Amino acid sequence: MAQEDVFKKLVSHCKEYGFVFPSSEIYDGLGAVYDYGQYGVELKNNIKKYWWDSMTLLHENVVGIDSAIFMHPTIWKASGHVDAFNDPLIDNKDSKKRYRADVLIEDHLGKIEEKINKEVAKAAKKFGDAFDEAKFRETNPRVLEHQAKWNEIHERYSKAMNESNFEDLRQLILDCEIVCPISGTRNWTEVRQFNLMFSTDMGSTADGAMKVYLRPETAQGIFVNFLNVQKTGRMKIPFGIAQIGKAFRNEIVARQFIFRMREFEQMEMQFFVRPGEEIEWFKKWKSTRLKWHQALGLGDEKYRYHDHEKLAHYANAATDIEFEMPFGFKEVEGIHSRTNFDLSQHEKFSGKKIQYFDPELNQSYTPYVIETSIGVDRVFLSIMAGSYCEETLANGESRVVLKLPAALAPIKLAVLPLVKKDGLPEKAEEIINMLRFDFRCQYDEKDSIGKRYRRQDAIGTPYCITVDHDTLKDNCVTIRFRDTMEQERVSIDKLHDIITEKVSMKNLLKKVIE
Ligand code: GAP
Repeated sequence: MAQEDVFKKLVSHCKEYGFVFPSSEIYDGLGAVYDYGQYGVELKNNIKKYWWDSMTLLHENVVGIDSAIFMHPTIWKASGHVDAFNDPLIDNKDSKKRYRADVLIEDHLGKIEEKINKEVAKAAKKFGDAFDEAKFRETNPRVLEHQAKWNEIHERYSKAMNESNFEDLRQLILDCEIVCPISGTRNWTEVRQFNLMFSTDMGSTADGAMKVYLRPETAQGIFVNFLNVQKTGRMKIPFGIAQIGKAFRNEIVARQFIFRMREFEQMEMQFFVRPGEEIEWFKKWKSTRLKWHQALGLGDEKYRYHDHEKLAHYANAATDIEFEMPFGFKEVEGIHSRTNFDLSQHEKFSGKKIQYFDPELNQSYTPYVIETSIGVDRVFLSIMAGSYCEETLANGESRVVLKLPAALAPIKLAVLPLVKKDGLPEKAEEIINMLRFDFRCQYDEKDSIGKRYRRQDAIGTPYCITVDHDTLKDNCVTIRFRDTMEQERVSIDKLHDIITEKVSMKNLLKKVIE
């Protein structure tokens, strides 16, 4: 199945099974804003717990905070967001549609890459085991031609972006003959800067309202609380502050479902270190964070690093962890070595001394910072995409199953009485009452057992427990495993242990530090 179709199916599956709904749907929706449904919110909460515990339980020197969304507007001046948190936008005069100029060019580069990959795949098929991909890429004339084109465009693009040269950016769009996907024309406006922050007024206009911003990242709430936490928690460097919370960006090109939203959630951790030790810590966090992703068991090959060659002026190292979404490898998390830029800026703009006295060195300094920044919604999407499977069964029937990491599944087990009578529903209730304190359970007695299994497969429930007439005599049930569909007869007393083994957050967390 084409990846585009897989993605469409995934989006409709999310809606049909109560994971993600378009926001304000009965009013025809609101662009790039989504609501999480009854199963979505459970999965999302489990993702957040997995991250929070991995930060604050597995590291004694990482503590959490929950700062406000509204912050003093000068914070955003100090952080650079007022002046530099911009996207270059361009309009098509015929369709009146607005695009990000950089995205138009990146998509164009992506198409050239696709052409190269197609040539490679064709040759690999033709030559089989004897195929030497590296050599083919170095010598095949068609590949070389595409690659030369890609290099030339990429070089012009990077230069224009680095120099914020919008005339060159527009010229590149024209030279690449990029057309508007709606009108099909090349009738483009100039490229302009567009600030991504949402603003509103705080206080009544009579008092002289103050313009405040909806935070575009949670990180600044951590920076401005650095001294509060360090002093009240008697924290010694190195230490980290973690936070989960909503962030808002007025994205121009909001698409790909929950990948790029205008209201989203971040999980960020700022790790404060001695100047000079930041690269070592950067490498440590880079590997710890990849392990966190890989422990989910969606396949190590689905993740890769993308080290940044061009760094922001305040950073001295940066990488993204990318996941192979149905629309290609995409950033899910960023790990940045941000030097002492943010704390120094807040010191300058607030006029307050923001330094740390290091008792071991007997000196004060502005700590350096390693940031790990991950979008909850993007992890959610990566997990849904990595778990969604369509399978044809031995009997010719098909099933859609979400092979979610068991510890994150919204419902851990479903208890299903074979029939709605003869005391089986009561026995099922008894089992639920025994297990409900530890696991989220669901009771279902409607339709055939096969249909009930399918419903649970579709929401990723790892276990189905069937209660039949024998259960009343031998106190045993049939447990069915989601991924293999194997069934086993087990004693009710053993259920708790069997289920814990797979669904416990503890076992998942252990994998991160293995
Ligand atoms: N404090 C650093 C920071 O905010 P970022 O690369 O702009 O860095 C970090 O964002 C992460 O937040 C991204 O890797 C992504 O997972 C998530 N994110 C950013 N913009 C997003 C959007 N519009 N919708 C969903 N997630 C987003």
